[in-house]
Amino acid sequence: MLPVLFLLLLACPGSSAGGLGVTARTLSPCYSADLRPASQRLVSAVGCTVLLTVPPVNASEVVFWEYKTSSQEGVIINYAFDRPANVSRPYENRTWFNETDFSLQIVLQQGDDQLYRFRSELEATDWFQLRVVEPLSEPEIVGNSSVKEGGNTKLVCNVLEGKADLYWWKKNGELLLGSDHIQFVDNTTLCIIKASINDSGYYACVVRNEVSQNETSFLLHVQNAANVVLPVLLACVIMGSLAGVFVWCRRRDRPCRNGCRWRS
Ligand SMILES: *[C@@H]1O[C@H](CO)[C@@H](O)[C@H](O)[C@H]1NC(C)=O
Ligand SMILES: *[C@@H]1O[C@H](CO)[C@@H](O)[C@H](O)[C@H]1NC(C)=O
Ligand SMILES: *[C@@H]1O[C@H](CO)[C@@H](O)[C@H](O)[C@H]1NC(C)=O
Ligand SMILES: *[C@@H]1O[C@H](CO)[C@@H](O)[C@H](O)[C@H]1NC(C)=O
Ligand SMILES: *[C@@H]1O[C@H](CO)[C@@H](O)[C@H](O)[C@H]1NC(C)=O
Ligand SMILES: *[C@@H]1O[C@H](CO)[C@@H](O)[C@H](O)[C@H]1NC(C)=O
Ligand SMILES: *[C@@H]1O[C@H](CO)[C@@H](O)[C@H](O)[C@H]1NC(C)=O
Ligand SMILES: *[C@@H]1O[C@H](CO)[C@@H](O)[C@H](O)[C@H]1NC(C)=O
Repeated sequence: MLPVLFLLLLACPGSSAGGLGVTARTLSPCYSADLRPASQRLVSAVGCTVLLTVPPVNASEVVFWEYKTSSQEGVIINYAFDRPANVSRPYENRTWFNETDFSLQIVLQQGDDQLYRFRSELEATDWFQLRVVEPLSEPEIVGNSSVKEGGNTKLVCNVLEGKADLYWWKKNGELLLGSDHIQFVDNTTLCIIKASINDSGYYACVVRNEVSQNETSFLLHVQNAANVVLPVLLACVIMGSLAGVFVWCRRRDRPCRNGCRWRS
């Protein structure tokens, strides 16, 4: 029965709802989501409010806002003109229905990613597709904040909430470009090969999806090789001296043949 109906609808495009359509837009503020009205499909974010509107329709008894997913279909709200609007349970406390123009406002949740339409006893709109995306929280950068000059290091950018479509890196506020020295792996990872003192600085990982952008930064310190070599050298000299004194003490009764550099 249903497939036949679908075929009929496909065969006669335009005949389905006489061009009656829902228009939707995201109300401000909503991260960096597009706030322009859309007439077939809208991408919006969890936690934001969308406003669904319909052109003036011919209705005198009852109107409905309905939803549809791949697995089920149902009523969001029904309004018979002589009674208060009746909101179904999952939409309670987060929808506002305007009894004058029949518009509907919904504060979005993850599960609202589905199709919507408005219907009266006489006519129905086409289905409107709403895509609901989770906004990105601040990412987290994992890596060693200190690396020795000449060593390799990597910084990994982890997205904790939401799914990023795009990653990029900045160093001290400027876009970081790849090279032999700076490599990006799996989008999320920045590798610094043979770090030099100049690689020290603030590294920011920027993440973006359709509705939001966020970033976090990380201070990387590249240690001067001299700072590492000097203490090691000193330690060697001291150890050497001690060993020398020890040897000298044991041999002082004999002539010093090999020249004791460490003697005063
Ligand atoms: C509204 O519906 C009535 C009854 O079906 C019809 O007579 C009238 O022409 C319709 N008006 C519009 C604007 O569609
Ligand atoms: C209110 O809506 C729900 C869900 O659509 C429906 O089951 C219920 O019968 C409705 N109640 C009234 C009074 O219309
Ligand atoms: C909506 O709010 C009322 C009153 O605060 C509460 O009783 C009801 O459980 C709420 N419904 C939902 C679905 O949270
Ligand atoms: C309902 O819609 C009418 C017409 O667009 C508008 O004048 C009115 O302010 C709206 N009511 C609410 C509560 O938003
Ligand atoms: C980035 O994420 C934090 C929470 O982790 C949030 O408070 C902040 O508003 C987000 N920034 C943007 C620009 O979305
Ligand atoms: C940080 O450095 C230590 C020692 O150099 C190493 O064991 C560890 O794996 C490094 N961590 C990361 C995330 O690279
Ligand atoms: C990861 O990088 C590849 C190649 O640069 C790109 O095609 C893909 O879209 C990126 N994916 C994400 C989630 O950034
Ligand atoms: C480090 O930066 C300085 C000044 O910014 C520049 O003169 C020098 O060539 C750089 N060294 C390396 C190894 O990139």
